[in-house]
Amino acid sequence: MYNIMYYYCTFMFVAANLLKCGNSQATLPNFILIFADDLGFGDLGSYGHPSSVTPNLDKLASKGLRFTDFYSSSPVCSPSRAALLTGRYQTRSGIYPGVFYPGSKGGLPLNETTIAEVLKPLGYATAIIGKWHLGVGPNRMYLPTKQGFDHFLGVPYSHDQGPCQNLTCFPPDIKCFGLCDQGLVAVPLMANDTIKQQPINFLDLEKAYSDYATQFVSVSARRKQPFFLYYPSHHTHRPQFAGKGAAGKSPRGPFGDALMELDSTVGNLIQALEDHGVQNNTFVFFTSDNGPSLLRMSNGGNGGLLKCGKGTTYEGGMREPAIAYWPGAIRPGVTHALASTLDLLPTIAGLAGAKLPRVQLDGFDMSDILFRHGPSKREAMFYYPMFPDEEHGLFAVRLGRYKAHYYTQGSVLSNTTPDKDCHETAPLMHHDPPLLFDLEADPSEDYNLATPEHPEHQAVLQLLRDVKAEFEGGMVFGEAQVGRGTDPQLEPCCTPQCTPKPACCACG
Ligand SMILES: *[C@@H]1O[C@H](CO)[C@@H](O)[C@H](O)[C@H]1NC(C)=O
Ligand SMILES: *[C@@H]1O[C@H](CO)[C@@H](O)[C@H](O)[C@H]1NC(C)=O
Ligand SMILES: *[C@@H]1O[C@H](CO)[C@@H](O)[C@H](O)[C@H]1NC(C)=O
Repeated sequence: MYNIMYYYCTFMFVAANLLKCGNSQATLPNFILIFADDLGFGDLGSYGHPSSVTPNLDKLASKGLRFTDFYSSSPVCSPSRAALLTGRYQTRSGIYPGVFYPGSKGGLPLNETTIAEVLKPLGYATAIIGKWHLGVGPNRMYLPTKQGFDHFLGVPYSHDQGPCQNLTCFPPDIKCFGLCDQGLVAVPLMANDTIKQQPINFLDLEKAYSDYATQFVSVSARRKQPFFLYYPSHHTHRPQFAGKGAAGKSPRGPFGDALMELDSTVGNLIQALEDHGVQNNTFVFFTSDNGPSLLRMSNGGNGGLLKCGKGTTYEGGMREPAIAYWPGAIRPGVTHALASTLDLLPTIAGLAGAKLPRVQLDGFDMSDILFRHGPSKREAMFYYPMFPDEEHGLFAVRLGRYKAHYYTQGSVLSNTTPDKDCHETAPLMHHDPPLLFDLEADPSEDYNLATPEHPEHQAVLQLLRDVKAEFEGGMVFGEAQVGRGTDPQLEPCCTPQCTPKPACCACG
């Protein structure tokens, strides 16, 4: 009881100050959003992995709130990032089909409102460090600096989207695993809109990110300027890499080393908050963009007890580890409330007292979950595939404890896991009646309940159908931005006039 009152009072105190002081910058909370890449439900120590070395994330989990039923909006990268930053399904903003390439003509439309743009009018300093993957485009018009971020240090897309022969590992005897895209420019490191280094020196990259991020925290805190730091890490996407501090140090091999390096940056960020006395005024949230990449056996991530991984709409593709941390405001514990990356924009806007964008949002404020360990405002989660289209629409719907699959399909991204349903050879299948799983009793989606032996499930199937129909009735697909195609001339090249491309693009 004491604890509940304590935290309730702290929360009320924060809330009261916000009300009293309006936009007074001293009382606005800071936000740090850490987004891992291809990290699965079973990859962290706090989610049961026996050999991952993640002391800092484990600390956030034990001192913060750990989610068991948290979802990304997509089983692949670009769409899940669009949804995280806009609070809207990727189908609305047009981030489909699949993901952006270095020469993509499209990007996250500039009239979409990101979390950074929601916070800017209140005087927030905003930074993105790491992986953008929401477009470069003509004249670099889709970079983060055009979407509310004051600072960008990072790669505008995935670090496997370029030749990675130069991705040397440390020490040299540790083999770098990974299939990278050939015939593209070498992966660039960008500082705001300009290329700082091409190809990137991956072994020094995490240190550069960590230094820039902690500097950003420190400068903002000293200026008493509220800040929003978005840290979408390259880790643990293939090909795995790690600098001196982590390479060869984890019992789990290259994947474990990459994860350990990400974890050390998390530790540095928390340390920076403490050094500047802003840890009690900063909401830290950690999750991942989609499920584990299961195409290179044990060199990829792990979905734990969930079925399949990246590229699929089984649970392993979209259900993610997630941790909310805010000393004094968020009481330690575990929540089974249904929540999603889509809910971060409304939650952050609510905490800052910022105006919500005047668009159709798909997220819900998570304050009741965070500050009272209460129930979720979210009742359903909708699963779009990697390549959504209006004809097929949703592949699956979760309502409360039940999930119905209307379509299933395997993916090359989950090809090496033993379960054949996950592989690209598992064709697109329409299910009528849908496959029905009780995710509370059967999180691994092993036992279909929509069978003649279970006539008692007719009512829940009908309910799911109604929820699906209502949602799809309100879904307007935006123009397909990935579908606009690619132009090699748009690939970032730091020596633009050089020949022959793409090999000549090099500097730094
Ligand atoms: C952005 O502009 C496009 C093209 O005019 C329009 O279709 C879309 O609805 C707009 N999106 C938002 C969020 O306003
Ligand atoms: C980006 O621009 C901001 C504002 O001009 C500047 O302070 C910052 O140093 C730049 N960041 C990088 C990585 O160059
Ligand atoms: C943060 O809150 C804790 C109690 O939750 C308190 O002990 C500590 O002094 C506070 N730190 C700062 C810098 O306000």
